[in-house]
Amino acid sequence: MHDIYAAQRVCGFGTTIFSEITRLAMQHQAINLGQGFPDFAGPPWIKQAAAAAIAADLNQYAPGIGLPRLRAAIAAEWSRRGWYDVNPDTQVTITSGATEALFATAMALIDPGDEVICFEPFYDAYVPDITMAGGIPRYVRLYPPRLDLPHQDLPAQSTWWFDPAELTAAFTPRTRLIILNTPHNPTGKVYSQAELQQIAALCQQYNVIAVSDEVYDQIIYTPARHIPLATLPGMWERTLTINSTGKTFSLTGWKIGYVVAPDHLTHALRQSHQWITFAIATPLQEAMAIALEQAASNGYYAELQAAYLERRDLLWSILKNAGLPPLPVQGSYFIMADIARLGFTDDLAFCRWLTSEIGVAAIPPSAFYAREQTVDTLRQPEPLLARFCFAKRLDTLRAAAERLERLTGRIERDPS
Ligand SMILES: Cc1ncc(COP(=O)(O)O)c(C=O)c1O
Repeated sequence: MHDIYAAQRVCGFGTTIFSEITRLAMQHQAINLGQGFPDFAGPPWIKQAAAAAIAADLNQYAPGIGLPRLRAAIAAEWSRRGWYDVNPDTQVTITSGATEALFATAMALIDPGDEVICFEPFYDAYVPDITMAGGIPRYVRLYPPRLDLPHQDLPAQSTWWFDPAELTAAFTPRTRLIILNTPHNPTGKVYSQAELQQIAALCQQYNVIAVSDEVYDQIIYTPARHIPLATLPGMWERTLTINSTGKTFSLTGWKIGYVVAPDHLTHALRQSHQWITFAIATPLQEAMAIALEQAASNGYYAELQAAYLERRDLLWSILKNAGLPPLPVQGSYFIMADIARLGFTDDLAFCRWLTSEIGVAAIPPSAFYAREQTVDTLRQPEPLLARFCFAKRLDTLRAAAERLERLTGRIERDPS
């Protein structure tokens, strides 16, 4: 029976796992390595720019499509990185974070009954966005880098990977969109050129539009290299690239996101965006314009990457020493760790226990898988993992290490 106070499109949603784990973390004073946000301050020069913008009275509605200065800075960034000569007036739109960008895109491009492909595990907003627009999600599995893989004929993979045959099978004449996320949350995978080429070829064969969520494009670890899907031959015309300055500048609460797309897709996106948020906080847009302008030459990106590399390596060794083997991370600020040896049969129970009994919060990756499994995906069950976020001060990570030491003794040791 439907809740008579909620529309059908929302009544099945429930509360997100992030709210539950955050509440539990607060209740038990756990160190929160669950939700993905930095616990350190954003750059002072960007905060000063926002304060100056408020003092200068940039406090009324911005143009709906975004401040010209910010759109110009984004276009300049695309040129600087050698990606595309973007027109800031007709090909860049500022949104309330990547979250609104995703929702506005779904509303602008999906008709009821359209199929939308996403890789599973997926960032949790994708599926509600698809279904609220009346679309039907189709899942393609990303498999973890393990040796016990079902596809013996594929070369051993050192990162998360998908089966090209499964991807091809997901495309049908009803496919409207594919949603890609690189670098990927929650796995830390960065799609390779060869993988992007396979996706691009199928998009062109089936006349499918790609939505590429690239919010972690600046949080990447060599030798991995970020390649925007839109830069592949034949893809600019059919790709919307979504980004979020919140991740790049460690100011997630400002919610300044953006979409770069060709004129016709930008036009469609703006049609829905104008009725969703209309315009985004003016002084924060001004400050993010200054952030992008200055970061291009002040060494900020190199510092960001070095700092994240140190945090990644620290959390990686902490998890390893605690008996939770971590999987490789090429990008983003998340590590997936193998929890199988703790004797739990489901990741939610493990994460609740870790938060309340050990005092370290993590997110159960089952939140990033579709509930109704198809027969196809059931042939390999979800791996038993937990997602830990390392967008945290080194002190926070070290404090978590002390608590994770309590796991020693509970780990089922390998018989070897
Ligand atoms: C893959 C991915 N896409 C989108 C978002 C949302 O970004 P924003 O905070 O800019 O709305 C996040 C935030 O965690 C994310 O991890």
